Amino acid sequence: MLLSELSGVGRDPAGGVTRFAWAAAELELRSWFSARAAGLGLDVETDGNGNLWAWWGQSASGASLPGTAFVVGSHLDSVRSGGEWDGPLGLVSAFAAVSSLRDSGWTPTRPLAIVAFAEEEGGRFGLACLGSRLLTGAVEPAHALGLVDDSGVTLAAAMTAAGHDPSGVGADPARLAKIGAFVELHIEQGRMPLPESSTTGGARGLAGAGRPIGVAREIWPHGRWRIDLAGVPDHAGTTALADRVDPVLAMAEGIVEVRRAASELGILATVGRVRVLPGAVNAIASSASLWVDARGQDSDRVRELVALVERRLGVAAALESWTDVTRFDAALTADVAAAIGGEVPSLPSGAGHDAGVLSLAGIPTAMLFVRNPTGVSHSPEERAEEADAVAGVAALTAVVRRMAS
Ligand code: HGY
Ligand code: MN
Ligand code: MN
Repeated sequence: MLLSELSGVGRDPAGGVTRFAWAAAELELRSWFSARAAGLGLDVETDGNGNLWAWWGQSASGASLPGTAFVVGSHLDSVRSGGEWDGPLGLVSAFAAVSSLRDSGWTPTRPLAIVAFAEEEGGRFGLACLGSRLLTGAVEPAHALGLVDDSGVTLAAAMTAAGHDPSGVGADPARLAKIGAFVELHIEQGRMPLPESSTTGGARGLAGAGRPIGVAREIWPHGRWRIDLAGVPDHAGTTALADRVDPVLAMAEGIVEVRRAASELGILATVGRVRVLPGAVNAIASSASLWVDARGQDSDRVRELVALVERRLGVAAALESWTDVTRFDAALTADVAAAIGGEVPSLPSGAGHDAGVLSLAGIPTAMLFVRNPTGVSHSPEERAEEADAVAGVAALTAVVRRMAS
């Protein structure tokens, strides 16, 4: 099985895997990445932002001409109790592609790299695609280094504890300038309606289209907001209902409003994380926080949802991350489809990706999706069929052979 060498890493008793950036399980995957790369004779380096790079041909520090490197990759980290495929499939497939190209005696005529971006899920520090956003200058180093996890550990402290010097965090224009194109292979997430224009138009997802591989059309605009609600802490058994300022009640109203507004606006919005302090059963809370993940084809509607929730609660939401609509490079996507052969269905993505961050930074970018029979993701039930994963490796191999020659 393609992913068998990684399965079990970060197994979570609550189900699935939890592989948070700079924590033990992800550090184990970082070691796997370095060993796998070294075994293929690739030069491994970690950039200032903690992204891992494995080079075949001149590395970023090498003298390669600007814009010549062809890069493939994805991420190692997961959401809490997530699936094993989201991220690692792209990296296992990239190493398998390089391995089979090496075995065939092929060598790249331009620098070729496999990259594992750090903290793509934002599962530990709350800001998705942190490693790629730092690389592209989309987030300020000081803000990033000050992000804290649930136990109050800052990103800077987590990096230091893992033996990575945080002083190198920040935009890396020289490294970015070396990248000519980036292609990310990823498990399909959701069963998005295929556009009418393709021969399989109207089908829901690659499973509905009966196809193992697809390419990405665009990534929907998406953002994360946090709403903090203040309460007046008091005794659960001695405070009259009329005398209460209960933030949990407001939080509940906010959660219901998120769902109502999403349905009214025809977008997707989720409250998957809440926090109640101090969290005592017999005390009215002093504060309650909810996080809103909102996405949709129309960014105005996404922002409208947040405005409706703010109005309902009478408090301002704090924006934690925002990604505009991302359209992938048409010429590169056509090259990718040509390398695979035949008519490849193209899908919109409701999920964010590092490829989207690089695309917004002006790097020609494309994505390959491997069929997910149920579309379920960010869940222990996330999976792909082995035959489709193997088809993904063959597709990525053909793409690398075409693009790095
Ligand atoms: O949340 C996302 O869309 C991605 O999986 N990080
Ligand atoms: Mn992912
Ligand atoms: Mn994900």
